[in-house]
Amino acid sequence: MKTDISDRNNVNIELDRILSQNDTEVALQKARPFMELMMHYNCAIKEVTTKFEVLNAEFSVIYDRNPVQSIKSRLKSPLSILGKMRRKEYPVTAASMRENVNDIAGVRVICAYPKDIYDLAEMFLRQDDIRLIEKKDYIANPKSNGYRSLHLIVEVPIFLTRSTEYMRVEVQLRTIAMDFWASLEHQLRYKKEIDDDGSIAAELKYCAEAISELDNRMQSVHDRLSHSV
Ligand code: GTP
Ligand code: MG
Repeated sequence: MKTDISDRNNVNIELDRILSQNDTEVALQKARPFMELMMHYNCAIKEVTTKFEVLNAEFSVIYDRNPVQSIKSRLKSPLSILGKMRRKEYPVTAASMRENVNDIAGVRVICAYPKDIYDLAEMFLRQDDIRLIEKKDYIANPKSNGYRSLHLIVEVPIFLTRSTEYMRVEVQLRTIAMDFWASLEHQLRYKKEIDDDGSIAAELKYCAEAISELDNRMQSVHDRLSHSV
């Protein structure tokens, strides 16, 4: 039987369409457990965010001020998760992702004063459904570049239709000034094309010290004002 070229092309196009449909279907089926896990991390972000909102609301009723200036959160993208697992040579499985990648769910709590950071962290960790996995105090022990923040890796339960899952969340607590500094410093770290001879890093380090001094002075002015009323 003779098939002309346009017929053959049509058959090929149809085959491609079916194949790519099946590929997509297979890929989606495979991605399901991963998408479910990401949904769980998203729920964990909501739980943690609500906890800090509740603490802030009560604090503002009792003391007439807000220790939490803002809360930011982010879910790590699938590509960054994969990149991190490959870089650190972890097996690329859902179980290894849960066990090894602590910052898939991230919540950043920006506070007014340094003391608010410690007060909020203590109130949060005292809650009996929160499991502390790791604490890094980069305020008491700043990184050599000047970075300051309090980092907590916690597990928080999320209550699903049929089960309760403890999900890991990285919580970073810092002052407005520390956050301002970290966002500028982030550009230096991630902009590979910046050719820094060290002078930008040195200036940033100086700024970090100045910010810390300023945070402490603002804290003591605030303490004097609140003791005098
Ligand atoms: P990794 O996420 O694998 O690097 O874990 P780690 O053990 O190094 O965690 P660490 O607690 O040191 O840092 C976690 C997060 O804190 C980072 O992803 C950043 O968001 C932030 N961070 C840590 N160090 C710096 C820093 O020097 N500058 C800035 N801008 N952010 C930092
Ligand atoms: Mg790191």
